Amino acid sequence: MSANHTSKLQHLQQLANSIKFPRDMVLGAATASYQIEGAVNEGGRGPTVWDHFTHIPGNIADGTNGDIACDHYHRLEEDVALMKELGLTAYRFSICWSRILPNGRGPINEEGLAFYERLTDLLLKAGITPYATLYHWDLPLALQEEGNGWLRRGLVDDYINYVDITTKRLGSKIKHWATFNELFTFTWWGYGLKEDAPGLGGGAKAALTASHHALLAHGRAVPIIRKNVPDAQIGIVLDLNPVTPASDAIADIDAARRFEGCQNRWYLDAIFNGRYPTDMLETYKAVLPHIETTDLQEIRQPLDYLGINIYRRSIIKDGTEFAPVNFKRHLPEGQYTQMDWEVHPECLYDILQYVNTNYAPKQLFITENGAAFSDTLETDGSIQDWDRSTYVLSHLKQAARAIEDGVPLKGYFCWTLMDNFEWAEGYLPCFGLIHVDFETQKRTIKQSGRLYSTVASQLQCEMQETSK
Ligand code: FCB
Repeated sequence: MSANHTSKLQHLQQLANSIKFPRDMVLGAATASYQIEGAVNEGGRGPTVWDHFTHIPGNIADGTNGDIACDHYHRLEEDVALMKELGLTAYRFSICWSRILPNGRGPINEEGLAFYERLTDLLLKAGITPYATLYHWDLPLALQEEGNGWLRRGLVDDYINYVDITTKRLGSKIKHWATFNELFTFTWWGYGLKEDAPGLGGGAKAALTASHHALLAHGRAVPIIRKNVPDAQIGIVLDLNPVTPASDAIADIDAARRFEGCQNRWYLDAIFNGRYPTDMLETYKAVLPHIETTDLQEIRQPLDYLGINIYRRSIIKDGTEFAPVNFKRHLPEGQYTQMDWEVHPECLYDILQYVNTNYAPKQLFITENGAAFSDTLETDGSIQDWDRSTYVLSHLKQAARAIEDGVPLKGYFCWTLMDNFEWAEGYLPCFGLIHVDFETQKRTIKQSGRLYSTVASQLQCEMQETSK
């Protein structure tokens, strides 16, 4: 390593050493079934909306799909061993509905349940706590074909049936459950626009109808999980952004309020307060879904935690996107990732403060945070991913700052364990702490992974010291 690199690394190591968390802080990594598992036609799994969507030419930037992805389905032992090597204390993964119920409902596929049970057993044996997400976007295709998926209110009953079966069977081993991952993303980008599966492009009406049904499904799932797993920690994962107007012009201030209402408050107000925000009901008045009088009471359920996925802040001006939200992003000068997302570590602190101040959840987790940068394999086989290393450590620093300032943040999950299939962007963006060579499936821990494990191992040292 050159002298310049050595001093850069020392600087990052100092940064890693300076990050202090309470000793019960959870430090993990996150993944999602379709992005890593592969084996789409194996183990009795039925097709999902993402299998269908990725095979339509033009939908995925590099023309790829998740048919094989990281082949995680066949590599559980190796992948759990890598998590242990990284010193992770928790692992957040999602369960693919159509591995359990290949047609969305009907006969149970025991092999699917057994797969997740095997993963869980391996994790527990390695001292890694499993955090399971019940829905990370891969709806069984059969249910999409019936009434356009989440546009059909009856899908709530199908979801509840799936949740009941899954938590009954896995609940003795998995105690941390999330009902959904990112309602805003899959409903607006998949139902409103055509960017993600199912690629409906139905505008705001479709996005809001899908959102409402998914929120109702969340609300009805919580008591079922509680019944099946009395000692469960139950939450939901939302993608939230701190939002600021691009200028002090009234039109920009209004657009920022609408955007914040669309991405943040629509979901938070429903989940925590049992109502939709009045200003957004007005904005959406021409495109509102059918809402029954008791729906919002059902959506509001006591939760043990809220999971926040945070990648960036949003600086918003007036515009035409997501009509009638009508906004445009302002992109200031600065560093951007491969996703064209601005790097701004304070966003993590700001969103935690925003949620804590306005909604006061019992506990908070950062369930995703990370960065896509292209990586170079050095001649010695190592990957010195300086930008990602700096990104992860500087965001962790903001997490520690939030805890010091009284936010009940209990854990951080880096997105993501290993490079994987990044939805409509295919395999181009690399977010992993671990590099994957998709030709050979060889895994290599990156420098960012090593630095992350420095932070995790400090916690473990503290734990050992205090238990002496
Ligand atoms: C989030 C998704 C996750 C991953 C990251 C980069 O919106 O939850 O699956 O794709 O973005």
